[in-house]
Amino acid sequence: MYINFWYAMAETADVPSDKPHRVTFLKQNFVLFRDEDGNAHCLHDVCSHRGGALSKGKMNGSHVECPYHGWQFDGNGDCKYIPSLGKDNQKIPARTKVDSYPVHEEHGVIWAFLGDLPEDERPPLLRPHNNPNGIDYSGDEWRWVTQTWPLKSNYERNVENGIDPAHNEFVHERHGFSGARLDTYKVQEYDLTDHDWGAGFMLTFQAPPSTHETAHAGETSRTEEGDLEAGAGHSGPNNVWTYIHMTTTNFMHQYLYETPIDDYNTKAFNVSMSNFLPEDVADDDDIRDMNGAIAEDDVVVLEEIQPPLTPDNMTSEVMMPADKMIVSYRKMLKQWDAKGWRIDSAEIDRHKHNKIFAIPSPRRRTEKGWVFDPVPLIAGE
Ligand code: FES
Ligand SMILES: [Fe+2]
Repeated sequence: MYINFWYAMAETADVPSDKPHRVTFLKQNFVLFRDEDGNAHCLHDVCSHRGGALSKGKMNGSHVECPYHGWQFDGNGDCKYIPSLGKDNQKIPARTKVDSYPVHEEHGVIWAFLGDLPEDERPPLLRPHNNPNGIDYSGDEWRWVTQTWPLKSNYERNVENGIDPAHNEFVHERHGFSGARLDTYKVQEYDLTDHDWGAGFMLTFQAPPSTHETAHAGETSRTEEGDLEAGAGHSGPNNVWTYIHMTTTNFMHQYLYETPIDDYNTKAFNVSMSNFLPEDVADDDDIRDMNGAIAEDDVVVLEEIQPPLTPDNMTSEVMMPADKMIVSYRKMLKQWDAKGWRIDSAEIDRHKHNKIFAIPSPRRRTEKGWVFDPVPLIAGE
């Protein structure tokens, strides 16, 4: 788990206009809420007074109000009102501020940048309208559907599954693969395309007909053996794109956000773009069911992988040429380790009974005086 990346935090519908919403990621609690203009905000969910959970309080105009003694905080994390001081004596110490994180909301998802980098140094947020492959989704034929699912597995293991070209044949029987074509099957050699914060590949698979009616939404399923162009890549440690081109014109593009709850649990957010499923063929729930069923195939495998976390060396597993994408991902993780961005999870646990940390927010670069220490990090190089 790293600081200084964008993380999917909630679906738009999770955060109403009149109530704060709690989420727990990277072993930290966050509160999401909306100001009176409807803009979403994300703060560390621990009141700087005496530790109340802001998410368990209520909205007061554009401020979230702590349930314990009524302190009010705005979307920047500034304390705006302390009832015990009295209405005419609001001399609010600067040290009352709490961490506030940059937010982006689109396609039914609210993301937050969990780190302290200034804007021009941040890794980009992978999203359909800002993808490393230059795909333009502005045409009317594209529709999108968002959904989430929980996983009892480490987010890095999940990302490796998402970018793994060799698992389909054995995991996704509903795609028509069954591991039974060993006489003709192999993973073709592939090239990686690097970009600043990730890498990816596209590959042509010889694909059998689909065997399951929900595989590609019923009547649009592939009925005969044929070439299937597919590829995947990652952006940062936690975000994945997967493109499946069923035919030369029918595309399904998934943007998958693996947000770690802790080392062993993940919440996956999926924004699925498709250009061949008009409303009269599949409604949003049909597409969610299809994606959910495919994810379920992966979950069965992922929850049993040992060790639960990715090994920190390349010698305790045996990599094959088809694993080139995984090796590239692991190398990039090392680069982010070297920057000193990996959270020291064991150190958080060591203090769990009497000390609260916060993911440092961008304001910490320019302002001193914070109540909570920044989350412990594993030293870089
Ligand atoms: S703990 Fe939040 S107002 Fe006192
Ligand atoms: Fe899969």
